[in-house]
Amino acid sequence: MASPVRLSLDRLMNRIGALGRIGAFTDPVTGDTGVCRLALTGADRMARDQLVAWMRALGLTVSIDAIGNIVGLRAGRGPAGETAPVMLGSHIDSVATGGRYDGALGVLAGLEVVEALNESNVTTRRPIAVAAFTNEEGSRFAPDMMGSLVFVGGLPLGDALATVGIDGTTVGDDLARIGYAGSADTAPLMPSAFLELHVEQGPVLDHEGVTLGAVTGVQGISWTEFTIDGVANHAGTTPMALRHDAGHAAAAIACEVRRLVTALGPPQVGTVGTIRLHPGLVNVVAGQATLTVDLRNTDNDRLREAETLLHSFVDDLAAQEGVRIASRRLARFDPVAFDETLVSRVEALARDHGHAVRRLSSGAGHDAQMLAPVCPTAMIFVPSRDGISHNPAEHTDPAPIGAGAQVLLDLTLELANTTPETTP
Ligand code: GLV
Ligand code: MN
Ligand code: MN
Repeated sequence: MASPVRLSLDRLMNRIGALGRIGAFTDPVTGDTGVCRLALTGADRMARDQLVAWMRALGLTVSIDAIGNIVGLRAGRGPAGETAPVMLGSHIDSVATGGRYDGALGVLAGLEVVEALNESNVTTRRPIAVAAFTNEEGSRFAPDMMGSLVFVGGLPLGDALATVGIDGTTVGDDLARIGYAGSADTAPLMPSAFLELHVEQGPVLDHEGVTLGAVTGVQGISWTEFTIDGVANHAGTTPMALRHDAGHAAAAIACEVRRLVTALGPPQVGTVGTIRLHPGLVNVVAGQATLTVDLRNTDNDRLREAETLLHSFVDDLAAQEGVRIASRRLARFDPVAFDETLVSRVEALARDHGHAVRRLSSGAGHDAQMLAPVCPTAMIFVPSRDGISHNPAEHTDPAPIGAGAQVLLDLTLELANTTPETTP
């Protein structure tokens, strides 16, 4: 049932605006303003400081763990067996050219749930936790969803801290530098359920004019970095047959990704998001190239097939071009399905409020994907205008944000007040 507690959309939008000013970035070409808050940079630190200040002002007990995840806890009144919190969360880091909603929405909606409950003097049996997980984006340090993955025990802390990023620094050093290398014990924070409100980042809801999405799961994600070693040489004098051109090999892989993905058909997708050539000069055959490939599919077998086909193409290419190609796995996550009961509750609550709602699966990776194996998990999507995300032009209207946050609040109350079933 929809709860009588109502949240303040103005308060939520004000916080989204305030956080969006931290690391604000205006695209010089389009003039759109988004955020650049790459994980563990100074802008990330400022956003973290603001979040912690808001959490403390709301009376939450703040803990920072060894991978820098920030969790604010609102106490429950239940007996000893009901101390596992209902956790609401997402991330506040961004890609370098990000929007102000991706991630921030889920964390700030969590704060608004807490503030609405505080204002109405509502206590719950279970505690409620609001989490901001470290380095969800993975643009600066791979893999993505790093903080939530470490939180659930899917990646050893030491491996995560030793990760070297695109700037040559490690996660551990940068966490210490920004003052977020914490030591909190995460065991008491392991949730009884996890809920994440997020912008869809794709076109489905916006195209169909549907206000809310009940997310059924997240597709599998495979990230690989290829490093190609050829021979740098003069662009004018080197006969074509004698070249070992790392730049050409990189371009061939990029074209193959598109060809392969098209041949496999939807829902397979593939992206070459970075290519770097060395020395990168107009009149020099490139001696070295590095590129990244992002492959995703809802079906793990088909994703494996795409990976295998790509690797076999790369082996043949290396032989043909006379170059060495090394590959490094940056991230690999299986598809996950969210908890059916919670997905149905998201749908039902959305309908109770009179909102159009549909089920859909997520194309983007999310912290909820990491939490799903350890507790009942659900996500609520709100529309992204024109399906645009990872772009400063990312936009969601306030009305669906309010609708999604209210469903988040209602479901949180249900879950935080549910008495666990007792066995006779
Ligand atoms: C994270 O946003 C991803 O889906 O790459
Ligand atoms: Mn996100
Ligand atoms: Mn993102």
